[in-house]
Amino acid sequence: QSVVAIVPAAGIGSRMGANRPKQYLPLLDSCILGITLQLLLDHPDIARVVVALHSQDQFFSTLSQAQHPKLHTVEGGLERANSVLAALQNVHETNAWALVHDAARPCLTHQDIDRLLAARQQFPQGAILAAPVRDTMKRASADGCVASTVSREALWHALTPQLFPAQELQRNLAAAIAAGIQVTDEASAMEWAGVHPGLVTGRSDNIKITHPDDLPLATLYLRHQRE
Ligand code: C5P
Repeated sequence: QSVVAIVPAAGIGSRMGANRPKQYLPLLDSCILGITLQLLLDHPDIARVVVALHSQDQFFSTLSQAQHPKLHTVEGGLERANSVLAALQNVHETNAWALVHDAARPCLTHQDIDRLLAARQQFPQGAILAAPVRDTMKRASADGCVASTVSREALWHALTPQLFPAQELQRNLAAAIAAGIQVTDEASAMEWAGVHPGLVTGRSDNIKITHPDDLPLATLYLRHQRE
C-alpha cells in the first residue's frame, strides 16, 4: 500500500503579517515549505508528495524541489480542508494511505513519520500525531474572565502528519465540507463520520509556524536536530 504525502500550502498566512505567504519565509538555507517538502521527499516510504498551492502562487517555482519527480502540485481552495481535498483528488493509487502534513511544520522528523506509519497495525482506521496538554486549561466567559477549569487529563494537541486511508478521507472530507462542518484537521472529518482515529505521541518540537516569534524557535529546533 503506497503512502502519498499531502501538503496544504495554499494559505496566505495573514497572522504572520509578512510580505509573502508564511510558507515562503526564509528558514536556514531554504524556506519553510522547502524544508518541509525535502523532509517528505527524502522519506523512503513516501511514494509521492502532492502539494496544494494558491492559485496566485508566485514563489513555488523558485524552490529547488519544484521539479522533483516525486512532487506534484494542485490548486488549493478557500480553506485548508478544501486544499487537502483538492490534493486528495490527485491520489489514484488503490488502497493508498494519505499522510497529510502542514507546510508550516518544517521541524517534523523521520522518527515521527516512522512512528505514525508503524501505528497502522494498531489503528487501521488511521491515526494522528498528537501531544498531551501540559498546561492547566481554562474555559473563558464572554467578559474575558475564567469561567471554569477544564481537566487536562484527556486533552491532546492535534499535530500533523495525520494518516488515513486516502479514499475514506476524501469521501469524509467532501461530505463534512458539504455539510458545513468546521474542519480544521483531517481527524475532524473522520470523527464526524464516526471514526475514532488513534493518537500517536509526537515530538514537541513539531511546531506550527503561525506567528513571527515561531521562526527563531523553528531555526533553533532544526539546528539542534541537525547537530
Ligand atoms: O493558517 P494555518 O496555519 O492553520 O494553515 C495550516 C496549513 O494549511 C498551512 O500550511 C497553509 O498554507 C495551509 N492552507 C491551505 N489552504 C488554505 C488555508 C491554509 O493549504 N486555504
